[in-house]
Amino acid sequence: MIALPLPEPPLAGTRYGLRPWAPEDASALAAAWADPEIRLRLPVPDPADETAAAKWIDGCASRRTAGLALDLVVVDLSEPDRAVVHGEVGLSAVDRNRGTARIGWWTAADHRRRGAATEAVALMTRWALDPLGLDALVAEVDPDNIASLTVARKVGFENLSRPVDGRTVLVARPPEGRGRRTTGRV
Ligand SMILES: CC(C)(COP(=O)(O)OP(=O)(O)OC[C@H]1O[C@@H](n2cnc3c(N)ncnc32)[C@H](O)[C@@H]1OP(=O)(O)O)[C@@H](O)C(=O)NCCC(=O)NCCS
Repeated sequence: MIALPLPEPPLAGTRYGLRPWAPEDASALAAAWADPEIRLRLPVPDPADETAAAKWIDGCASRRTAGLALDLVVVDLSEPDRAVVHGEVGLSAVDRNRGTARIGWWTAADHRRRGAATEAVALMTRWALDPLGLDALVAEVDPDNIASLTVARKVGFENLSRPVDGRTVLVARPPEGRGRRTTGRV
């Protein structure tokens, strides 16, 4: 296993940035897990209470150092302490030998339709392809999840030709001209 680094410097766009999960985020994560829209679209632990959220947050660092996953909080850069959880974007099933990972995302209900997911997914995608050096990022989206399909397409994900298990599979690849790497630069 190759440990996944934290993006350095932290990823920042024009309005939103990404930071690691902190113990203080447990109630915000439990609230997101309770949101019907998130429960409909994403696997949520059972139970999905604050204790479970604290445990999940506690495991983030070891999943990252084991090279399995990288989960980051979407924050608003105009908020000085960046304490509010606007959303999440994460890599999972990371296989740096094959050069692939899955990407997933959500935006907290109170913060939707302001561009948070689009900017956060763009930041993570660009970083995962270069400098991390993956060759393909895969997103699986329900075909009726118009918001999420819009996010993926705005970021440059393209449909694979066939759905898998009824879900639309989209892929992002590095820009033309970047040679294949096996381990990336970071
Ligand atoms: C999908 C989701 C992440 C979008 O988050 P968001 O921060 O509101 O997205 P953005 O503000 O970046 O919007 C992206 C685009 O989707 C459109 N959009 C957002 N919500 C929409 C909705 N409910 N219906 C139709 N279009 C929608 C926006 O208008 C925008 O397009 P535009 O720039 O052309 O106007 C959010 O709705 C969510 O968390 N849903 C539940 C979890 C989920 O589905 N996760 C993804 C699993 S694959």
